[in-house]
Amino acid sequence: MQEGLRVHIRTYGCQMNERDSEKAAALLQRAGFTITHRENNADIILVNTCSVREKAEEKAVGKLRLLVDERKKGRKKLIVGAVGCMVQRMKDDIFRKIPGLDFALGTARLSTAGDVIKKVLAGRGKIIDVAPERSDCELNPHIDGRVSAYINVLYGCNRHCSYCVVPEVRGNEWSRGAREIIAEAGELVRGGTREIILLGQSVLTYGRSNAVWQAEQKSPSFARRPCSLPRGASQNWFSEPFPRLLEALNSIDGLKRVRFMSSHPSGCTDELARAFAELPKVCPHIHLPLQSGSDRILKLMNRGYTTDEYRAAVARIRRRAPQIAVTTDIIVGFPSETPDDFDMTRALMEEIGFSNAFMFKYSPRPGTRAAGMDDDVPEPEKMRRNQVILEEQNRLAREMNQLLLGRECEVLVTGRSKRNPDRWTGRTDTNIITVFEKPDGCRLGDLLKIKIDRAEEQTLYGEPVYEQTALQ
Ligand code: SAH
Ligand code: SF4
Ligand code: F3S
Repeated sequence: MQEGLRVHIRTYGCQMNERDSEKAAALLQRAGFTITHRENNADIILVNTCSVREKAEEKAVGKLRLLVDERKKGRKKLIVGAVGCMVQRMKDDIFRKIPGLDFALGTARLSTAGDVIKKVLAGRGKIIDVAPERSDCELNPHIDGRVSAYINVLYGCNRHCSYCVVPEVRGNEWSRGAREIIAEAGELVRGGTREIILLGQSVLTYGRSNAVWQAEQKSPSFARRPCSLPRGASQNWFSEPFPRLLEALNSIDGLKRVRFMSSHPSGCTDELARAFAELPKVCPHIHLPLQSGSDRILKLMNRGYTTDEYRAAVARIRRRAPQIAVTTDIIVGFPSETPDDFDMTRALMEEIGFSNAFMFKYSPRPGTRAAGMDDDVPEPEKMRRNQVILEEQNRLAREMNQLLLGRECEVLVTGRSKRNPDRWTGRTDTNIITVFEKPDGCRLGDLLKIKIDRAEEQTLYGEPVYEQTALQ
């Protein structure tokens, strides 16, 4: 019945959501639906939602209402479903917010979308499923030929930062088995992937709080062959689960780069630093959200570190991997944040020297601990603080990028430049977008040396360097 029906998926939020949407798309395709990138010719539209800030929810609600209204404009049979974090948070209330909605699936239930759509088509009324039990098939269907691909390694989050809704919408932390991850990576690489980005809310705790990893550790075959790879088996240089996982991935033939996000200072151990220094495929880049440079605010945020511990974490990594790029997230206007607290954040940002930073205005989320605190920084002041650090960070990033002028950077080619299709684009190992003229014979997934001739705060520009053949 669903043969040929076209499904369009619109995704808001973080990389977890992007990955979930990819998986849902692959499963729907397997079930006989056609995935379309065009919203206006779709029979079914899924909106994968984010709850992290109020604005994110407003966007998704606005979009869903517009889609539902499309039915009045002639698309009478259009089916509209909401999935993901906002559904998990609002549960049944989502139908009150968006009365015309056909179905709603929580974060653990996306892979049931095909069956649910069939039930809706059969006229079984509105459907909601927000059960916490994950419905995923474990070896995820992947998208062939993608140069850079995500792999989930850790689901959920146990940290309970006081402002954050993620633990509520994504549930308890849960690590996937290492073998399964490595098998998935191998399959992706055989399909053309050259870079793998490991995903988890607090990815460095991988394997610390779950039974799967421990069972694998105890099994004798795992001890001998930690990654179950045919060749280049791991040397067992590391004892902590996450560095061991990196080591195993590093030995996959044909894979060129491994990245991961997000990190927490408590996981920045000496072994992690060694992994950066000794595993050539692990990119010299760490996304290490700071949130605030004030110890008082960090404590109220329940972040689990002080500014000195944050400094020490960065120093530990830099001691072994001095070239590492550190990027971060900052929240301005957290309850009771004074101008002095804010100045401490600015000073620490300058001191650390982040190569990129994402800034957010604090947004109270229902049900979180911080929502019980007085949201006392007025909106215009939040905006001002946001603007101030944005400008300072841009200046810092530009200065740092300008140090690369005239230098050669290794860039993984990922596609065409959006602005100018004659130019191609990729990222340096430190994760800076780089735009360049496409050299002859260059293909997606190649690693190229690019000589940098222009540097802006977010982007580098340059020319490919052709390897000189030695003169006889
Ligand atoms: N798990 C990741 C972050 C996930 S959310 C980590 O802890 O590193 C991404 C970012 O959104 C956070 O780092 C934080 O800076 C921001 N954020 C989360 N909740 C927020 C809120 N209620 N208001 C404003 N920003 C928030
Ligand atoms: Fe949210 Fe903190 Fe978990 Fe990140 S570590 S997802 S900010 S609770
Ligand atoms: Fe990600 Fe937003 Fe959910 S940040 S985990 S999509 S609440």
